[in-house]
Amino acid sequence: MVSSIIISTAVVVVTITSTMMIMLFPLANAISSPSSSTDEAEALRSTGWWNSTSAHCDWDGVSCNDAGKVTRIALYGSGKELGELSKLAFSSFPSLVELWLDDCGLNGSIPHQIGTLTQLTYLSLSINNLTGELPLSLANLTQLEVLSFYSNRLHGSILPAIGKMKNLTVLDLGNNNLTGVIPSSLGNLTTLTSLYLDGNQISGFIPSQIEKMKNLKSFYLFYNGLHGPIPPEIGKLKNLNYLFLDYNNLTSVMPSSFGNLTNLIYLYLDSNQISGFIPPQIGKMKNLKFLSLSSNRLHGPIPLEIGKLKNLEVLYLSYNRLHGPIPPKIGNMKKLIFLNLGNNNLTGVIPSSLGNLTNLDSLTLRGNQINGFIPPEIGYLLNLSYLDLSENQINGFIPEEIVNLKKLGHLDMSNNLISEKIPSQLGNLKEVEYFNLSYNNLSGTIPHSISNNYMWTSIDLSHNQLEGQSTTPHEAFDHDKGLCGGIKGLSHCKKRHQIILIVVISLYATLLLLVTILGFLFHKQKIRKNQLSKTTKAKNGDLFSIWDYDGTIAYDDIIQATEDFDIKYCIGTGGYESVYKAQLPSGKVVALKKLHSWEREDPTYLKSFENEVQMLSTIQHRNIVKLHGFCLHNKCMFLVYKYMEKGSLYCMLRDEVEAVELDWIKRVNAVKSIASALSYMHHDCVMPIIHRDISSNNILLDSKLKACVSDFGTARLLDPDSSNQTLLVGTYGYIAPGKLNYTLH
Ligand SMILES: *[C@@H]1O[C@H](CO)[C@@H](O)[C@H](O)[C@H]1NC(C)=O
Ligand SMILES: *[C@@H]1O[C@H](CO)[C@@H](O)[C@H](O)[C@H]1NC(C)=O
Ligand SMILES: *[C@@H]1O[C@H](CO)[C@@H](O)[C@H](O)[C@H]1NC(C)=O
Ligand SMILES: *[C@@H]1O[C@H](CO)[C@@H](O)[C@H](O)[C@H]1NC(C)=O
Ligand SMILES: *[C@@H]1O[C@H](CO)[C@@H](O)[C@H](O)[C@H]1NC(C)=O
Repeated sequence: MVSSIIISTAVVVVTITSTMMIMLFPLANAISSPSSSTDEAEALRSTGWWNSTSAHCDWDGVSCNDAGKVTRIALYGSGKELGELSKLAFSSFPSLVELWLDDCGLNGSIPHQIGTLTQLTYLSLSINNLTGELPLSLANLTQLEVLSFYSNRLHGSILPAIGKMKNLTVLDLGNNNLTGVIPSSLGNLTTLTSLYLDGNQISGFIPSQIEKMKNLKSFYLFYNGLHGPIPPEIGKLKNLNYLFLDYNNLTSVMPSSFGNLTNLIYLYLDSNQISGFIPPQIGKMKNLKFLSLSSNRLHGPIPLEIGKLKNLEVLYLSYNRLHGPIPPKIGNMKKLIFLNLGNNNLTGVIPSSLGNLTNLDSLTLRGNQINGFIPPEIGYLLNLSYLDLSENQINGFIPEEIVNLKKLGHLDMSNNLISEKIPSQLGNLKEVEYFNLSYNNLSGTIPHSISNNYMWTSIDLSHNQLEGQSTTPHEAFDHDKGLCGGIKGLSHCKKRHQIILIVVISLYATLLLLVTILGFLFHKQKIRKNQLSKTTKAKNGDLFSIWDYDGTIAYDDIIQATEDFDIKYCIGTGGYESVYKAQLPSGKVVALKKLHSWEREDPTYLKSFENEVQMLSTIQHRNIVKLHGFCLHNKCMFLVYKYMEKGSLYCMLRDEVEAVELDWIKRVNAVKSIASALSYMHHDCVMPIIHRDISSNNILLDSKLKACVSDFGTARLLDPDSSNQTLLVGTYGYIAPGKLNYTLH
């Protein structure tokens, strides 16, 4: 069961770090030394990090050996702001074996005196604001087993002398500003199991000496400026489980020696400039679950051998130059959950064997030259929530079987040659949030099930030969005239003649934000004047807009429904906001997140609110909480969401009765949903969105226990082209040392 859980990279990475943290606290060894115990007490006291009057060996985070010498200092995640690391007089602690000062608000540089701690086996200073270069004296710490400076602002290059730390098992320098090359001496670290250098600006080649690190299980090099080829010697690292080389400038071809990595679970090579064919040896990587080769220059056909990867759950080959047909053998990969072959040059038909992939959640074939019919077998993909077949030359008709796909949230078949009628029951798909059949040759009438479907937020049937029920196709699908409820301001939208809606909330909201928040005071003509006038823009530049698909949410309704945010409607309070439940006159229930009045003056909270609006208005996914509108005005500052009946996963798990209701199957489903949302954010958005604070608090459940990611206050758009400057945010314990944390300014 566990193995069937699909977990996104991020989630896995989180697990790795937390397990690492938990596992690596063996008891301190007793080591005696000449310096006196009172010296040590004095040295500890003078840091100002403790204010206790008891014996120093009893202080929080301090451990001593039998001789009363300090062997361990561990203040990780204490939430303290310890300030300069140099306050700790390192030379006073000759017996120190472990130093854990992660997430302690440390700043300044790492003092060279750290080299006097020659007994040190664990040195972890991750998640701080340390600056400067790595001190040369680090080379004296030859006993080190764990060295972690993850997520600081260190610069300079990686010291070749690190190659002398013969006992090192974990080396984590990820998420800093390190430059220079990877020293070949790292190959001497033959006991290393985890090497994390991701999120730096390391350039140069990957040294072939890495082949000596035979114990390596995790190798993270993503988000750097590495170039040159991937050394074929990598094939000798037989123990590798995780290999992330994505987001670099790697060139040349994929070495066929990858086939030897039979223990590999994750292989991410995307966003490089790798060319050549996908080697058929890839079929030997039997344990592979995640394979991402997208955004490279791969050409040639998709090798048939790929069908041997029976454990594969994620296959991304998009944005390459692959041609030839989709191998029907893909239908053998029964565990596939995400399949993206989009934006290549694939030809031929959609193999009917895809109908075997009953675990599939997301299928993207867009932007190829696929022709032929949509196989009716597609109706077997009962778990499909995302289907994008757009921009191909698919002809024939839409098979009736598609109405079986009850979980479908995103359906895009636009820009093809699909003809005949739209299946009459298609509108009964309840989860659909994006529906695009435009630019085809569809004819007949628009089924009632669709024209009545106000649950759907985005419908585009334009550029077909459909007979509108009350208007000519041209009028009905004109983006301006058809827009009914795109942005509502305070107005109520009349359901005119059941005109098919082309409601492009996200587009308009983005536009609105560009127009207002970003301070551009001109308006696109597309937005009709009377709509704009409803968007009240106060003198001080504050912004108010509430919109919804059917235009039934109005500001006054919200104030009335909550009796002006009376406490009795409050269903939760956070650090700086409260959440209210409001039942609107239409019967619709929404959740309102309102900033506490005393926090309103603080620009960081305002920014977080604005950020949330910006993020949520650009994305739509069935596992991302739905934003209906917002008010950003100095008198009232709130966001309007879909109401999630069951509240947060955190609360649900804490409640004994509810935790039982959330049985194992449901938990697995929740994990899958979140993975699906993260995958969408990381791979399917125009610019990847990094949430940066995934925790059980931020996962909400609706009445059917469908899980949604919420709280995008700290989320960031990722622009892979800009130079990266990293910043850490998030809930401690859930922060991933991986892809979640990167912010690029
Ligand atoms: C000592 O520090 C703790 C927290 O670090 C604080 O709560 C407490 O008030 C302090 N006591 C004194 C006497 O300063
Ligand atoms: C590191 O070791 C060398 C040689 O043992 C010594 O000369 C040097 O002072 C040490 N550095 C520090 C900072 O202790
Ligand atoms: C360490 O690595 C370097 C460079 O690869 C090499 O020249 C040196 O001999 C190695 N040292 C040891 C002790 O293996
Ligand atoms: C796709 O194939 C067509 C013709 O087969 C060719 O003209 C085009 O350049 C190819 N596109 C890419 C991106 O390779
Ligand atoms: C529907 O697809 C067409 C063509 O791919 C695109 O131009 C249009 O913007 C899409 N409509 C919506 C509402 O996204």
